[in-house]
Amino acid sequence: MMASDKRMHYRVGPGGEVSGEITVPGDKSISHRALMLGALAEGDTEISGFLAGEDCLSTLRALSALGVRIEHLQPQHVLVHGVGAQGLSGAASPLDMGNAGTAMRLFMGLLAPQRFDSVLIGDESLMRRPMERVAEPLRAMGARIETRDGRPPVHIHGTPGLKAIEYRLPVASAQVKSAVLLAGLRASGRTRVTEPAPARDHTERMLEAFGVTLVREGPSVSIEGGQRLSATAVRVPADFSSAAFFMVAGCLAAERGLLLRNVGINPTRTGLLRLLGQMGADIRLHPHGASQRGEPIADIEVHQSRLRGIEVPEELVPLSIDEFPVFFIAAALAEGETLVRGAQELRVKESDRLAAMAQGLTRLGVENRLLEDGLWIRGGRGFSGGIIESQGDHRIAMAFSVAGLAARGSIEIRDVANVTTSFPGFLELSRAAGLRIEAA
Ligand code: S3P
Repeated sequence: MMASDKRMHYRVGPGGEVSGEITVPGDKSISHRALMLGALAEGDTEISGFLAGEDCLSTLRALSALGVRIEHLQPQHVLVHGVGAQGLSGAASPLDMGNAGTAMRLFMGLLAPQRFDSVLIGDESLMRRPMERVAEPLRAMGARIETRDGRPPVHIHGTPGLKAIEYRLPVASAQVKSAVLLAGLRASGRTRVTEPAPARDHTERMLEAFGVTLVREGPSVSIEGGQRLSATAVRVPADFSSAAFFMVAGCLAAERGLLLRNVGINPTRTGLLRLLGQMGADIRLHPHGASQRGEPIADIEVHQSRLRGIEVPEELVPLSIDEFPVFFIAAALAEGETLVRGAQELRVKESDRLAAMAQGLTRLGVENRLLEDGLWIRGGRGFSGGIIESQGDHRIAMAFSVAGLAARGSIEIRDVANVTTSFPGFLELSRAAGLRIEAA
């Protein structure tokens, strides 16, 4: 590492086999929501399987700053002493959401109807991300919110007495849907949100687990304002999006099979299973009998497979939105061509994931073409070694770590500190599974 460069990097040696049984950390989306709904509930909410990654810790710290007492008893075990719907109090300083887009957008919905003002800020990446998609519907409910050219800092002038709206989402976004539903919880009347395509429904499932009545009608969900939440126990499953890296690793190099334990398989999250299935992957699900508070769970068994390129059906894009970085690694190894369109949302994630993946694949000798809304890849020729810029994006860093299994030389992945936002312990767990990865 150069003296001027204090960032952390990974070096991934070529080849290797993955095997054994592993459990990836808890689900990020569900951990954020468990903290937030636990805070708004009456009574104590015990969360087990909590993801103690930086993103969820940002949510935890923000709720503490808003006057919620939260005991972080063990890394994966949290006790939230709910303050009830009216119980939050204003924070003394801006609330720092770090790298967490979900935290910032859901907090907008949660804080808009409060009696106090709030300011939301984040790290360099988050300060570049679009927030008007949430501010606009909230303003239609009567909220007073200012962004800077559509981006953070977000100034929220608390406005009790929001009015319900009927909102048709312009993009399939669980974050926007969730923010409107959270604001709807405090609005007068019935708020209805209609999605253009299904996006993850963890907020809906968890609101129901906290005793809130929702009405789901086809692509719409509605909520009557003024309902109270009652505390409950939440068991967070392992994160499908973190397991995804090992599903692809298994397809590449699990000669004897790899088992991923206790993974959340909510159908609004598992588009990758269908995509890999279409590519010819040998992946077997072993569902657990009872779902945890409405979230289905399975052990996932993966075997080394010969993959073939596919044209990704556009309706599967929102259902696999966070998995595209590692899906592109699978596509680069698959025989033939793979095409993804309708995935322009990838350009406004923690990085521009289409550009970051196209650049990284080119560095590793994979022929590809970057499109406005997707990526075309010619696969089947393996990876050369090379240096990858992660753009500070956790999922880009982890996706290229998996590529090492099928590389002809070492891959150096730069600027990987943000892996801890979603996957603390990634390095250790990857090594345990068989990846030849080390910190550099
Ligand atoms: C998330 C929703 C998705 C996803 C993000 C987590 C959530 O974002 O990409 O990682 O927890 O609601 P969008 O709502 O912007 O699609």
